[in-house]
Amino acid sequence: MPISAAINYNDLRRLAQRRVPRIAFDFLEGGVDDERGLDRNTSAFEHQTLLPRYMIDASKPDQTTRLFGQTFAGPFGIAPTGGASLFRQGADLMLARSAKAANVPFIISGAATATMEDVAAVAREVSWYQLYLARDRAISRDMVARAKACGLSTLVLSVDVPGQVRRERNLRNGFGRPMKPTLSAKLEALAHPAWMLEHYSGEALTASNWAKYAKKGATPHDVLEFLASQFPCPSTWDDIAWIRAQWPGNFVVKGILSAADARRAVSMGVDGVIVSNHGGRQLDRGPASLDVLPSVLDAVGDKVTVMLDSGIRRGADIVTALAMGARFCFVGRWTLYGVTAGGEPGARHALSQVSTEVASVMTQIGAADIASLGSDFLWPAPNEDTRRNSRG
Ligand SMILES: Cc1cc2nc3c(=O)[nH]c(=O)nc-3n(C[C@H](O)[C@H](O)[C@H](O)COP(=O)(O)O)c2cc1C
Repeated sequence: MPISAAINYNDLRRLAQRRVPRIAFDFLEGGVDDERGLDRNTSAFEHQTLLPRYMIDASKPDQTTRLFGQTFAGPFGIAPTGGASLFRQGADLMLARSAKAANVPFIISGAATATMEDVAAVAREVSWYQLYLARDRAISRDMVARAKACGLSTLVLSVDVPGQVRRERNLRNGFGRPMKPTLSAKLEALAHPAWMLEHYSGEALTASNWAKYAKKGATPHDVLEFLASQFPCPSTWDDIAWIRAQWPGNFVVKGILSAADARRAVSMGVDGVIVSNHGGRQLDRGPASLDVLPSVLDAVGDKVTVMLDSGIRRGADIVTALAMGARFCFVGRWTLYGVTAGGEPGARHALSQVSTEVASVMTQIGAADIASLGSDFLWPAPNEDTRRNSRG
């Protein structure tokens, strides 16, 4: 199937799965432990229904969305994803360019293969930097200064990786540190010669943002080893204050799941939170982002920008989150499948699928623009607490 014939998320997922070996695909798709969190993320959306309103002309819905003073073409952007060049060489820059072409935000992962400087050179206007704290805080300080020097508007601190987790698909494939593919993973990879050729002849998977702090002349592999000596590193509330003091731009905390954490982050001056469970990749027993969204909105929805990711597989999911009161959404796997399956055109295609689906659902429910999305469109009608925080 050519990319252009992929009509939805699942089609892109199938194409991506065909293109890369299991060891890479499992790293992309997998969750942690029993992967119940992964299922919970999608079923949380599936259990929501939207109540259409008729006699309203929403045939050409206006999706433009103001976020942190900037106008974007839609209420969604690309979440940070490390390791993307394992799926497609140059994926980070492809994603950045496709986000720029679509005028939606792109969050460069703190574990990306491309540097923030490279990304800023191709898509500064739409790019944000996602910081993973380093054990050596001088490194983090320098990264924040680099993001500022690059002219990026927004810094995102991911706080939901306080330690290593066991992603069992990776363990079974021998994907880890050191990388020791199992015999079966190696044999299966042989069935993907195009990927093998690309992967072994092109740029090596690494974390270039960390290269300047590793030893002189460090190879891409050395840089990954260096990263592993610095990360994961839990963030504390002192770090939030410390970063806030250094970063004058928009400061967003990603990985918030509890109202209490959201309240405390807001009291420390953050500008936004992304309600996220890291796409079900960290805590299998954690709640779905969508399920905790009302409590976070109730706590801080009138004070800061509340955004959401994890489990978005349809434009209807984004419309639902917005109707519940979220300001903005991010997709992780959707655009990763696009770029994996079809490079930059694939990433663009994924973004266009998201946009087309959002528009179609807005038309069907009678929402002419993003501002009109509110709890009137939710069925069953939410209780009064939730209603207060929505736009409706
Ligand atoms: C392959 C992969 C790598 C990821 N790497 C990062 C990362 O480096 N930093 C981060 O904050 N989140 C990372 N995430 C989580 C995403 O930012 C996002 O929270 C998640 O993918 C959203 O869920 P979805 O994939 O269901 O849309 C990663 C997710 C995937 C699938």
